[in-house]
Amino acid sequence: MRYPKECVLKECVEAVIRPLEPGDRALMEAFYNRIPESDRWFMNYDVMDPAIMGRWFDAVEKGSVCSILALCEETVVGQGSLYLRGFGATSHVGRFRIVVLPEFRQMRLGTWLLLDLIQLAMDRGLEMLRADLVAGVEDGAIEAVQKFDFFKFAELKNYVKDIHGNRQDLVIMIKRLHKEWSDF
Ligand SMILES: CC(C)(COP(=O)(O)OP(=O)(O)OC[C@H]1O[C@@H](n2cnc3c(N)ncnc32)[C@H](O)[C@@H]1OP(=O)(O)O)[C@@H](O)C(=O)NCCC(=O)NCCS
Repeated sequence: MRYPKECVLKECVEAVIRPLEPGDRALMEAFYNRIPESDRWFMNYDVMDPAIMGRWFDAVEKGSVCSILALCEETVVGQGSLYLRGFGATSHVGRFRIVVLPEFRQMRLGTWLLLDLIQLAMDRGLEMLRADLVAGVEDGAIEAVQKFDFFKFAELKNYVKDIHGNRQDLVIMIKRLHKEWSDF
């Protein structure tokens, strides 16, 4: 993949996608400060904790996480991360998460980031991509990934709790990957 990559969003807003770099810590902290707590709740780790953020940068350095940022001028407006196991029974499966600033949502940025994560996963020879999404909360994302041939693999009823303590279903969305886009 060639970076930096320019992309045009709805209303002709321009953004640049590039890999996360070691010096991006302050940019990332500013980004997550603008993400609502109700969205961060579903991230599985507390990105507001400096130690967790540090471990994340270490994981990127080690290669167990591939992370790409979307920037508009000097501000991070979106992030996509691909998590790789690297060993064992699920080493052929990558997991991912995309987060976009609220004011940049529904402008196609999530789609640009998803396309790049799919390509990164294919480049690493992964066979499947997995996203765990919460029904009733992340329905927009569930709908969006289906347009890219993700399908509902399993549903864990009343498995997660939202920020108010209410139980919600966790939907495991899977996409099978091919060596080339043309193999579809
Ligand atoms: C999910 C998320 C990443 C989508 O990013 P985005 O930049 O808004 O996505 P896009 O503009 O590319 O939208 C792509 C598709 O998503 C769907 N979509 C996005 N937001 C939606 C919403 N609120 N309701 C319904 N559908 C929605 C639409 O189908 C849209 O396709 P269309 O443009 O053809 O109508 C963003 O809303 C976000 O950061 N949410 C909080 C975190 C989260 O839920 N992450 C999902 C984990 S992968």
